[in-house]
Order: sequence, then structure tokens, then C-alpha cells
Amino acid sequence: MPRRKAIVIAPPRDTSSDEAALRALYRKDPSRILPNALWKTVARLQSLECRFIDDAGSVTGVELREPGKMLIYGTRTQDPLKAASVKLDGVPTVYIHNDFVAPLAPWFDRKEAFFRLVHTGSELPLRATVPGYTIHEVNTTTELPLVATILHACYDTPTPGTDEIATWTKRPVFASHAWLWIVDRKEKRPVALGIAETDKDTGEGSLEWIQVLPAFRSLGLGTMLVQELVYRLEQKVAFTTVVGQVKNPCEPEHLFRRCGFAGRDVWWVLHR
Ligand SMILES: CC(C)(COP(=O)(O)OP(=O)(O)OC[C@H]1O[C@@H](n2cnc3c(N)ncnc32)[C@H](O)[C@@H]1OP(=O)(O)O)[C@@H](O)C(=O)NCCC(=O)NCCS
Repeated sequence: MPRRKAIVIAPPRDTSSDEAALRALYRKDPSRILPNALWKTVARLQSLECRFIDDAGSVTGVELREPGKMLIYGTRTQDPLKAASVKLDGVPTVYIHNDFVAPLAPWFDRKEAFFRLVHTGSELPLRATVPGYTIHEVNTTTELPLVATILHACYDTPTPGTDEIATWTKRPVFASHAWLWIVDRKEKRPVALGIAETDKDTGEGSLEWIQVLPAFRSLGLGTMLVQELVYRLEQKVAFTTVVGQVKNPCEPEHLFRRCGFAGRDVWWVLHR
């Protein structure tokens, strides 16, 4: 009889203590600890090695490593010497705050900078309206193909298709009230789309996809969309975050700052 090869399935690792420590650290300074909303990292903790950085008895930072794939280094301190302890070990992708990028940058040939801003909700934003346009919630049962079409029309780079977008509606952070169209009343069709998520465990909202069809830009629709999303999110969360490419000709950082987002944190993604 042919012998069957035994398949060893490792039991899931208990990540609860890492998650608790990361959550506590993140709440103190979200934009310096991670390059993205916390839930995205928590969802991947099974595959990440966590090393917490202790500074005189208190946890000030974290190094998250997926061996052979990527490294995230986030710390509340601004001391550049702390980053000297980061061991690259040939990792091909590194996410690192602007304060610590300089010594690592020469080892990587592709570098992209991302702003990371926070809206604290201390002042709810105005809800600007543009005459002729109205806000509607996306029907996430019937309108996902239209969501895919609008995303495709707004970017030069590849965008997710309907099947991938459908998976977003199954995540615990899915918030149907934060999937919004701006509809052109005369043409009776959507011309802008905003998608945000809410992580109730952290009290964090995050703007994920903000776009206006090219022919309808610079009319104030981006502002109308972001203000409406923040208004809706901050009924339920303590703060809202957003990440975007610094070098984007549409200058979204300007749009978000105009809508009350603040901060000076920039993260670099280094690839080799
Ligand atoms: C970014 C985007 C949503 C802005 O939408 P919009 O409807 O043009 O934004 P608004 O008309 O409300 O303009 C908001 C501010 O940004 C400014 N702005 C808009 N487009 C700009 C551009 N290309 N360059 C510089 N500033 C710009 C406006 O002047 C306005 O500032 P002001 O009120 O101080 O004058 C839109 O350009 C877009 O969909 N881009 C492609 C998708 C994208 O990159 N999304 C952001 C991902 S993080």
C-alpha cells in the first residue's frame, strides 16, 4: 500500500495578548504606531511576529515581522537611534515612519510616501452641499458592479472587481451607512463614491476609498463626500483616519486637511 504523507496542521497561535498590547499602544498614537487602520493588522496577527519595544518600563513601539516578506516598525518616540535596532534580515518590504527612514532608504530601490492623517471629532465638520447633487447610500446588495465601474473610471491603476468588493461587505468593519454615492440629480447617475469602515473595538473610523469621476472634479464634490462620511462616522467612533499617497496629482492631502484632518505623520513603503 502506498504510504500517505502526513500533513501537519499547526494549531492557531493565541494572539490575544499581542492584540491587547498592540491595541493599547495604537490608541495612544495611531499615526506613529501603524501605517494603516488597526483592524487591518489585527486581522493578520496570526502570520506576524510581534516584538514590543520597551523604553524605561513602558511599551513605546512595536516591530511586526512576516518572515521573508515584510516588516513594520512603529514607535511613539522620535529618537532616531531607536530605529538602529531594526534588523532587516533581507526582508523585501518595509513600512517605516518618516522619522526613521533615512538610514534604511539606501538599501531599497523603490520608495513611496503616504500621509496618515487623523480627524479627532473634536469639531464635527460642516456638511457642505453642492447644488444639483445629492448623497445616497450605496445598495450593497444590488449595486456592487456599479461600485467596481466607478472605481475603474477614477484611477489609472488597476482597481478591484465586483467579487473582491463583495468581500469588503462581509468584514466586521463593514458599515453600510458609510458607503455613499453622490448622485447628479439632472443625469440621475452617481458621479462620486466614498467608502469608509468602522472598527467599534478600537473606536476608529477609516476612509478607504474616496473618488470623484474625472469630469466632475474641482466642483466641491470631494469635500461634500468626505464631510458627510466623517459626520456619519463620528456619531459612532472616537476618531477617523485616512492614508493616501503623498505624490498624487489630485492632491488628496489638501482635500482631507480642508475637511479637518490633521497630523504630520508620513509613512514610507520601501521595496527591493
Ligand atoms: C481627490 C479627489 C477625490 C478630489 O475631489 P474633488 O471633487 O476634485 O475635490 P473638491 O472639488 O472638493 O476640492 C477639494 C480641494 O482640493 C483642491 N483640488 C482638487 N483637485 C486638485 C488638484 N488636482 N490639484 C490641486 N488641488 C486640487 C481644490 O481646489 C479644493 O481646495 P480649495 O477648496 O482649498 O480650493 C479627486 O481628485 C479624485 O477622485 N481623484 C482620484 C482618486 C483619488 O486619488 N482619491 C484619493 C485617494 S487618497
